[in-house]
This record gives sequence, C-alpha cells and structure tokens, in this order.
Amino acid sequence: MKAVKVPLKQLNDVRKILMEEKLMNMDYKIKTEDGFGYIPLNENTDSYEVCDIELEPLKKYPKNFTDLLKGILTEEESEELKTSFDIIGDIVIVEIPENLESKKSEIGEATLRFTKRKSVFMKKSAIHGTTRIRDLELIAGEDNSVTIHKEHGTRLNLNVEEVYFSPRLATERKRVSDSVEDNEKILDMFCGIGPFPVVIAKNNNVDVTAVDINDRAIEYLKNNIKLNKLKGTIRPICSDITKVEFKTKFDRIIMNLPGLAYTFLDLAIDLIDDGGIINYYEFSDSFGQGIERLQNAASKKNKNVEILNTRKVKSSSPGMWHVAIDAKITG
Ligand SMILES: C[S@@+](CC[C@H](N)C(=O)[O-])C[C@H]1O[C@@H](n2cnc3c(N)ncnc32)[C@H](O)[C@@H]1O
Repeated sequence: MKAVKVPLKQLNDVRKILMEEKLMNMDYKIKTEDGFGYIPLNENTDSYEVCDIELEPLKKYPKNFTDLLKGILTEEESEELKTSFDIIGDIVIVEIPENLESKKSEIGEATLRFTKRKSVFMKKSAIHGTTRIRDLELIAGEDNSVTIHKEHGTRLNLNVEEVYFSPRLATERKRVSDSVEDNEKILDMFCGIGPFPVVIAKNNNVDVTAVDINDRAIEYLKNNIKLNKLKGTIRPICSDITKVEFKTKFDRIIMNLPGLAYTFLDLAIDLIDDGGIINYYEFSDSFGQGIERLQNAASKKNKNVEILNTRKVKSSSPGMWHVAIDAKITG
C-alpha cells in the first residue's frame, strides 16, 4: 500500500500535517523500522515520496452499543433498546420489543459486552401480583439472579426474580432520606428489600418499622440490615400491612405501592402522629387525584392535610407518572 517514508525525528510533525490535510489513511497503523516511519496514505496522494510496503491493518473495536449491534439492528432500534436497560448490581434487565425478540441472543451478548455486567435478563411480563415482581428470562451470561446493588453508599442484596426493586427510584430515596430528621419513628408500609429504610437509616438516627407481605423481600431486608453500617435501627416485619397490630404512631409513613397505596390511606391516617408526614405515591397524570385522596381520608378522621411537596418520580407509561406527594397531617 502507499505510505510516506520519513525519518523518525520528523514522524510526529509529518503525521500531524498528513492528518490535517486528510492524506493519512486512518485504517492502518504507522510502521517504524531502521530509523524511519512509514505513514499509510490514502490513495491518489502525491505530496510525498510514495512507496509500497506491507502494513498491518488496525483492529477495529466496536465503540458503542450501536456499533456492537451493527448489521443486526438499525441505529434507531439500538438507541431505543439502550434507554430500556435497568442495571441492578451486576445484572442488566432489558426490555426487548416483540418484533426484535428473534434477535434476543445477539442483543443479550451485545448488552453483556457493552455494560460489562455478568448477566442479562429480558423482561417477560409486566410487574404483576401482590408482590409486584415480573417474569424474566436469561438471555446472556451467568444464570444467577442474585446480586448486590450499590446505592448512595448502601449495599442492597436481592434476587431480581423474587422481589421488586427499581434503581430508578434512587433519587427519590435520597430525597426522602435528606428530608428525614434524627429520632423520627418511621413506618415503611411496603418496604420490599428495604431500600427506603436502609438509605434512611444509613444517614439518620431513626427507628424504622419495615413491613412487606413478600417473605423473600423480608429475608433480603434482613441481609441488608447486616450488610450496611446503619446509624438508625430497622425492624423488619413480614406481613400484610392490614394485619399488623401497632402499639405506636409514627412521625413518617412511606407508602410506595403506587398502584394501590390509596386503598391503605385510611390505615395510614390512623397510624400517623399529629404533625407527621406521609410520603404517598401513586400512578397518575397529575397530582390532583392523589391530593384529593389524601384530603378525603384525612377529613373522615377530622384531620387536616398540608401538601409540602409534589414530584414526578418517573414515567410509568405514556402520559402517566409515578408521582410523589409529601403531606403533613395535623389535627
Ligand atoms: C412497588 S413495591 C415497593 C418496594 C419498596 N418500597 C421499593 O421501593 O423498592 C411494593 C411492595 O409492597 C408489597 N406489598 C403489596 N401489598 C402489601 C400489603 N398488603 N402489605 C404489605 N406489603 C405489601 C409487595 O410485596 C412489594 O414488595
């Protein structure tokens, strides 16, 4: 191939000029030999002495996810997939549209290489049932659904096939944790593996009662209490929240069961202390419905609601949001 032969001392200067002039052939490596450098040239260049010499082609590494799937998916299809990853510890959960399911193995291998994680699972269902888990199918890597996810300095042990967990709520958990004050008595009505309790008790000297109906989630919460150095204490209870007999009221109640939390509002109003805060969540296109539900539940017990804050936590479906409402209950 055509190359320009230059003394080694001038190699760098000449290389820069050739690159600027777009004369250098970027698909080949420069060769150095006996005090000379051989810079590969594009065809049809006559500015320098041109000679024929064997040069080694550069190895091409895929630069990104789209590159990894070149020839298998279109650029748009890869971009769409990239936004549907959830990374939980060393596990990737990916949503593959039905029309691409026949390419799931290739997508799985590319995802594994791109994310450098150990396993890739594909979503096989929506989140369903009382325990809010989803069906998954391994499409690449190790068949191991247990992992440790790191969030805000905590370590959260879980099995993605047995419990609910969303890394997309990390910012919300931090925000709630930052609003907590020392010595609060907190109830997490639907704690799962305990990400709210663990993040909160890691940073605050509080007393958290954490309830979940899923016995596997409570087992992982027990591991997570041991795994993390906590300032506060967490008391795990495996039960339907409506069956727990509480002897105390709470300064804060967390209600992250967005599809059904409203059905437990009467109970939350009974359990909240005067001036306590309910961190309420639901799926909605606005905040109005949740605020009204909180006000209705409170007024039944002659209590008042002051809305402290509202947020869109994440998108749940087109036009719908997982919304957060912080409400102070008095009276
Ligand atoms: C959406 S998940 C949230 C888990 C956790 N708060 C988190 O952010 O990861 C809802 C949890 O509520 C639990 N759950 C559903 N109904 C319940 C009930 N009646 N009593 C207690 N827990 C319940 C489910 O098992 C599930 O773990």
